[in-house]
Amino acid sequence: SGTFSPSTLVGDSPELLAEGLAKQGVRGEGRVVWFTGLSGAGKSTLANALYAELTARGEAVELLDGDAVRENLSKGLGFSKQDRDTNVRRIAFVAGLLAKHGVTVLVSAISPYADTRREVLSNLPNALEVFVDAPLEVVTERDVKGLYLKALAGEIPHFTGVSDPYEAPESPDLHLRTDQISVEDGVRQLLGKLGYDG
Ligand code: PPS
Repeated sequence: SGTFSPSTLVGDSPELLAEGLAKQGVRGEGRVVWFTGLSGAGKSTLANALYAELTARGEAVELLDGDAVRENLSKGLGFSKQDRDTNVRRIAFVAGLLAKHGVTVLVSAISPYADTRREVLSNLPNALEVFVDAPLEVVTERDVKGLYLKALAGEIPHFTGVSDPYEAPESPDLHLRTDQISVEDGVRQLLGKLGYDG
């Protein structure tokens, strides 16, 4: 009947993600840099800056950014745990396909749940988990998109850090305190992790 049935999509369970990636021959050859952190912590800023640096070094790079993904690949999904997990698994699936072809994939998504991050990162063996960290007071003060003001006024339900959980990574590959270091510093550290000397 052509009815769209989200329950059959790859993003909906750990088993389907693992199976889906295996079927596509994804064994995690390529590199995935997974930026996690609160809205406004600087994930997209760092990802974009790193993108420019890697491109300048001749790498094939792709950016899977939360906002763009939600307008396209994950259109219609909300912010329940289930929808966020589905979103994160879809991103991981596409990241895996790209990485298979040697593309360095930069993912920028809040990805607030530790168990789901662990699951997708373990399906992408060459992935680095990067914790983009700024205290809630700082991101609330920055409020680049004006969302914290609304969330604190109760106008956005399930807003990460305000009325919805953010489970910080316990042992990320890189922990960047964006209220303490510059974008340039962050990028330098990221390039170091990716094997560039600086
Ligand atoms: S998730 O949790 O990984 O699926 O989120 P993500 O796909 O990265 O989307 C986060 C962006 O959506 C906007 N937004 C919200 N964020 C958090 N909680 C709620 N309830 C919410 N509603 C809308 C917000 O602009 C996030 O953008 P970033 O880029 O993180 O600032």
